[in-house]
Amino acid sequence: MEKILITGGAGYIGSHTAVALLEAGYQPIIIDDFSNSEKSALLGLKKITGQDIPCYEGDCNDAEIMDRIFTENKLSGVIHFAAFKAVGESSMLPLKYYTNNISSLLVLLATMNKHNVENLVFSSSCTVYGQPDKLPVKESTPRKKAESPYGNTKKICEDILVDQVNSKVALSAIALRYFNPIGAHTSSEIGELPLGVPSNLVPFVTQTGVGIRKELTVFGDDYDTPDGTCVRDYIHVMDLAEAHVKAISHLKGKEAPFYDIFNVGTGNGNTVMDVIKGFEKVSGKSLNYKVGPRRPGDVVKVWADTTKINQELNWKARFNLEEALRDSWNWQLALSKNNS
Ligand SMILES: NC(=O)c1ccc[n+]([C@@H]2O[C@H](COP(=O)([O-])OP(=O)(O)OC[C@H]3O[C@@H](n4cnc5c(N)ncnc54)[C@H](O)[C@@H]3O)[C@@H](O)[C@H]2O)c1
Repeated sequence: MEKILITGGAGYIGSHTAVALLEAGYQPIIIDDFSNSEKSALLGLKKITGQDIPCYEGDCNDAEIMDRIFTENKLSGVIHFAAFKAVGESSMLPLKYYTNNISSLLVLLATMNKHNVENLVFSSSCTVYGQPDKLPVKESTPRKKAESPYGNTKKICEDILVDQVNSKVALSAIALRYFNPIGAHTSSEIGELPLGVPSNLVPFVTQTGVGIRKELTVFGDDYDTPDGTCVRDYIHVMDLAEAHVKAISHLKGKEAPFYDIFNVGTGNGNTVMDVIKGFEKVSGKSLNYKVGPRRPGDVVKVWADTTKINQELNWKARFNLEEALRDSWNWQLALSKNNS
């Protein structure tokens, strides 16, 4: 089995990608420092796959452990998820974000180069587009000035990959620009584990649904959108995981140096009210929410043009918003049951 290193593999998207890789016949190897995840994710992985996925506990800024992993495993590729991702916190603690998100990529690239590992899939984000002038947004759409240090780390990391590839180093890289991942594995054994108050809409909705949060605030309902609330492209995390498998196999057919970018979304925009109504439908609960003022810095509407990934990676989202909300809700119920 070809081995693929997943940095941040105990996290939300990484853990689902580990399942998808195993199902596709790859052997995932995880490194995670558990700075934003829990070891229970590994137990969940074992329940789903029946296997102990090898996991190194460590920081991928640590060149020594990275070197050890590459020495102990003949890797055919890497998927680099490890990063901090809280947009709000990144404005308060920019150096924490610049240090972790950028230096981990630098250490990884140096280690890959040293061990002649060429294939890399990098977690980027639709935040690099800011508020696009035209929708849906294509990969060729110019990136905008980042709204946050977090968003800037994604732009800088993409630029580092381009520079590295242009230097003719043996690197084949794909940056996947994720839209808004939601949902959980249908088994409810793994899912998103937000530490503290969730900054993303869906975990806030499901936590409000079970009573952990009293009330959801909708930030503005007077935007130029169908119902006045912000529009996003919500992608099921299992579909997103699958896109990584497609990206890895695409890279295998490419000769280094190579770099490409793909949007990963459904191609549909949904409003905050669509999410609330969808949640109420799948949960049978009425959600306690109020409308508050607009939140500074919020992008009003963004959704993906997915033509490129549909055609070139032969990937398409399979789950719709309701199915994703159903899986988020079942995951929340499973979490609450385990914690009670
Ligand atoms: N979830 C989203 O909404 C979203 C959207 C766009 C892009 N992304 C990007 O996707 C990637 C994965 O996101 P996620 O939602 O799974 O986040 P997550 O926080 O659930 O997972 C990241 C994992 O990386 C680990 N980690 C962080 N720094 C590390 C380090 N230096 N060494 C080892 N492990 C480290 C954390 O413990 C965590 O398990 C991130 O790069 C994120 O920026 C996420």
